[in-house]
Amino acid sequence: MIIDGKKTAAELREELKKKVAELKSTHNAVPGLTVILVGEDPASKIYVKNKEKFAKEVGLNSEVIRYPADLEEKVLLNKINELNKNDNVSGILVQLPLPKHIDKRKVIETIDHGKDVDGFHPMNVGNLSSGYDSSIPCTPLGCSILLKKAEKNLSGKHAVIIGRSNLNGKPMTQLLLKENCTVTITHSKTKDLKAECLRGDIIIAAVGIPKLVKGDWVKKGAIVIDVGINKTDTGIVGDVDFDQVSKVAKAITPVPGGVGPMTIACLLNNTIECFKRANS
Ligand code: GUN
Repeated sequence: MIIDGKKTAAELREELKKKVAELKSTHNAVPGLTVILVGEDPASKIYVKNKEKFAKEVGLNSEVIRYPADLEEKVLLNKINELNKNDNVSGILVQLPLPKHIDKRKVIETIDHGKDVDGFHPMNVGNLSSGYDSSIPCTPLGCSILLKKAEKNLSGKHAVIIGRSNLNGKPMTQLLLKENCTVTITHSKTKDLKAECLRGDIIIAAVGIPKLVKGDWVKKGAIVIDVGINKTDTGIVGDVDFDQVSKVAKAITPVPGGVGPMTIACLLNNTIECFKRANS
């Protein structure tokens, strides 16, 4: 089974469109998403453009603020503080990576945690790990929705995550624990990555190494979610060798068309959730 992220994301956006229309009639307002892009990173420019396009498609108030790469940090922090106070803005996203002279941590912590649609603010990270209501980082949220497409009940499954980033690996762990999975987090210092992967009923590959996960790394019948988006001479490929692994796995996400579209749909979902929390 190939898990179709493009179709699942389109279905989720249709649901979100209805939710936005409902909020418009009950609250006489629609959620607003402001995305800030600093600099000219080509991948970031494409991501931001897509975020804007889909936010508009579901009926959100969407705004993108673009700054040059030499932006002073304090100008960015002042803008975030201004957006924090603006009731028309439900969600704020500062596209990463930021230029080196800007302190990422300071930026994330300046965003009002109630408007933190990325779920990167320490308050949201803490709430998620404590099992309380919080914004959930978009990529792992998208992965967990796709996982559920392949297997409704994840209880007792052994999930192996490759990569320990704050964006994916760590929050993914929390989501899988919530589903009663047994979770192994692996990373660059893991001794025998292949042996760890072979133990997984579920593999989440989020490490940024093209086609790292081979067919003989995967247990027959496992579910494989590929978070990787790697540019190579032959085009965009994931962290999983799709041709090999799709012969062994019960279900697998393709790249492109897997996790990528879900990340944006989950961002729109998080914006609506922030609006609802702020207006409840
Ligand atoms: N850059 C790559 N992925 C992300 C993401 O999920 N959020 C933000 N803010 N920046 C990113």
